[in-house]
Amino acid sequence: MPEPRARVRVAVLISGSGSNMAALIDAADRPGAPFEVVLVLSNKAEAGGLAVAGARGIATAVVAHKAFGGDRAAHEQAVQTVLDAHAVQVVALAGYMRLLTPFLVRRWAGRMLNIHPSLLPKYPGLDTHARALAAGDAEAGCSVHLVAEGIDDGPLLGQSAVPIMADDTPASLAQRVLAAEHRLYPAVLADFCRDRLAGSQAR
Ligand code: GRF
Repeated sequence: MPEPRARVRVAVLISGSGSNMAALIDAADRPGAPFEVVLVLSNKAEAGGLAVAGARGIATAVVAHKAFGGDRAAHEQAVQTVLDAHAVQVVALAGYMRLLTPFLVRRWAGRMLNIHPSLLPKYPGLDTHARALAAGDAEAGCSVHLVAEGIDDGPLLGQSAVPIMADDTPASLAQRVLAAEHRLYPAVLADFCRDRLAGSQAR
């Protein structure tokens, strides 16, 4: 019997509806996918994505930041404990609405990805679509990057642009960008994991 192909063990961290998470789970189910989603973790028990992941048979965890008061370090340590318990190799942030401290960022340096709804370095932070509209930009888009210590900072791994229409509102633009996110993130994560698997075979 041939050995089953190794796949990178990915955790997806969410705070909300998890539509990017669902796109990553869909991609992991495709034949030949270089990664599997072994854990979906949220800092909010009410995150809609948890039920979606659970229904797909994926382990879920809630590490509620509120339970830790203002102690960010203790919260991140608790997150790390869950990641370790699931032998996670790569972390994909997907609408995880927490500013990370250097503890988690350094721990996962080069192995933690984020998706952001703008063409970085434009518009890090919140309200990206309203800001793109206010600036009169002709296009908007999304970026996948490695996580570094600044807000929405770190080496870019991929971007996808969408046109801005004359009658766009922040909501209509968000919808168009989100559709692009759902294509971009799985493709970039798959490339990233393929490279990682190729690298580990070469060693
Ligand atoms: C996405 O726009 C993502 O780029 C941003 O937060 C949103 C999350 O949406 N970081 P969802 O939870 O994946 O639907």
